[in-house]
Amino acid sequence: MIRIKGLRKVYRVGEEQIHALRGLDLQIGSNEMVAVMGVSGSGKSTLMNIIGCLDRPSAGSYELDSKSVAKMTANQLALVRNEKVGFVFQSFELLARQTALENVELPLIYSLERGLTSAERRRRALEALDRVRLTDRVTHRPNQLSGGQRQRVAIARAILNRPAILMADEPTGNLDSVTSHEIMEIFRKLHQDGQTVLIVTHENDIAAYCQRVVRLKDGQILSDLSIAEDTAGRAVR
Ligand SMILES: Nc1ncnc2c1ncn2[C@@H]1O[C@H](COP(=O)(O)OP(=O)(O)OP(=O)(O)O)[C@@H](O)[C@H]1O
Ligand SMILES: [Mg+2]
Repeated sequence: MIRIKGLRKVYRVGEEQIHALRGLDLQIGSNEMVAVMGVSGSGKSTLMNIIGCLDRPSAGSYELDSKSVAKMTANQLALVRNEKVGFVFQSFELLARQTALENVELPLIYSLERGLTSAERRRRALEALDRVRLTDRVTHRPNQLSGGQRQRVAIARAILNRPAILMADEPTGNLDSVTSHEIMEIFRKLHQDGQTVLIVTHENDIAAYCQRVVRLKDGQILSDLSIAEDTAGRAVR
């Protein structure tokens, strides 16, 4: 699903060069559920942005679903992103004036499938809302929803186009502990249904929902372990 070799990302800020990723190799298979961890500034979001086709690497190769994307133009990248990637963010990123249902429908309005009737769009959005168990709140606007419900709307929106990979950068960062676990149960269910999932988190108990934990340090991979190995290693440390 994801094949990364020798990935580098250099940001230029004035005269300064910041090496955010320093030659990173990573492979993620179809239907894996992987946590990405590491201290602030270790390169997690930079890596997620490249994997999610929001940004391009400075060097190295990247194949997503057998497509080489490292050297694509911005337009080509946007097409791959729309087709293959679903994003969930810490801050939900919902449109305040739109209902839950309208927020979820949005990607279909902008997608290649413009031929869809509004009834078909609605049907698909309702199906996605059903998968996150939110059918009883479809006419609510974001400010009429709890934080956990908002994040479920965002997840429904992210899975609408049936993406090859569902990516979440600290999806529980703004949620209390009980709600965080409810959201992780949703990701777990999607994963059980076959979805490939990649989640950035700072919390070990959130990473524990994943099968595999990739830890970054200074733009490189510090460790890449099964959750059992990672947990055992932490107990020893
Ligand atoms: N657009 C940018 N321009 C310049 N430097 C950047 C940019 N984005 C990130 N960086 C730098 O690259 C490094 C990696 O940043 P990144 O955002 O990937 O870290 P992170 O692991 O996601 O951290 P956090 O846990 O705080 O979100 C940092 O040193 C950061 O300052
Ligand atoms: Mg980050």
